[in-house]
Amino acid sequence: MSHTTGKFITVEGIEGVGKSTNIATIRRVLDENNIEYVVTREPGGTDLGEDIRSLLLDHKHQAMSDDCELLLMFASRAQHLAQVIMPALQCGKWVICDRFTDATYAYQGGGRGIDDKRIALLEEWVHGNQQPDLTFLLDTDVATGMARVHKRGAADRFESEATVFFERVRATYLARAKANATRTVVIDAGQALVDVELSIRQRLTVFLEHCQQ
Ligand code: TMP
Repeated sequence: MSHTTGKFITVEGIEGVGKSTNIATIRRVLDENNIEYVVTREPGGTDLGEDIRSLLLDHKHQAMSDDCELLLMFASRAQHLAQVIMPALQCGKWVICDRFTDATYAYQGGGRGIDDKRIALLEEWVHGNQQPDLTFLLDTDVATGMARVHKRGAADRFESEATVFFERVRATYLARAKANATRTVVIDAGQALVDVELSIRQRLTVFLEHCQQ
């Protein structure tokens, strides 16, 4: 984001790529560098946003239209930016966010088929051209991700989508990573966990060095 204080790190990927485990690695690296941060997520991150999240994930809302889903994602994001993300960055804290607008392009754009131009309109409205400083895209094949999700228990409204939906989500994520290569690092999440952790550490260390220059 265009600020001179905290840095905004986002973590993205299809279901089952290990975002939580890898966020723990990012936290450890920031702790080792005495950097203050907040960890948050989307949809959610505020009381209001968590209520919106419940609506979005609940199977009860099978009839939710694609546009309604898109608007709820951005409604949650607007509140999150106003209440958590911007205040933290402005007081010098870093923000680690589990998903952000790349997820909207991937799921509502790639997955549901909503035109990118519509998403771009809402992106411009809600956070202008303010973007994450660093994005980790954890990438693995859909079969591996879904196998991990199914081990976790009952699937939510998104996790119940078909493989082909997640293939489109993954392809869109990878295309966005290419288009936003200066801020996005693609990590092969299919490697052994120790190697995934090492890749994240190395890339984050380079980013920290760059920030200190
Ligand atoms: P999570 O389970 O990774 O926390 O995310 C909840 C679900 O929300 C996940 O299936 C991806 C989906 N999602 C979107 O479809 N669009 C978005 O913009 C965001 C942030 C999440």
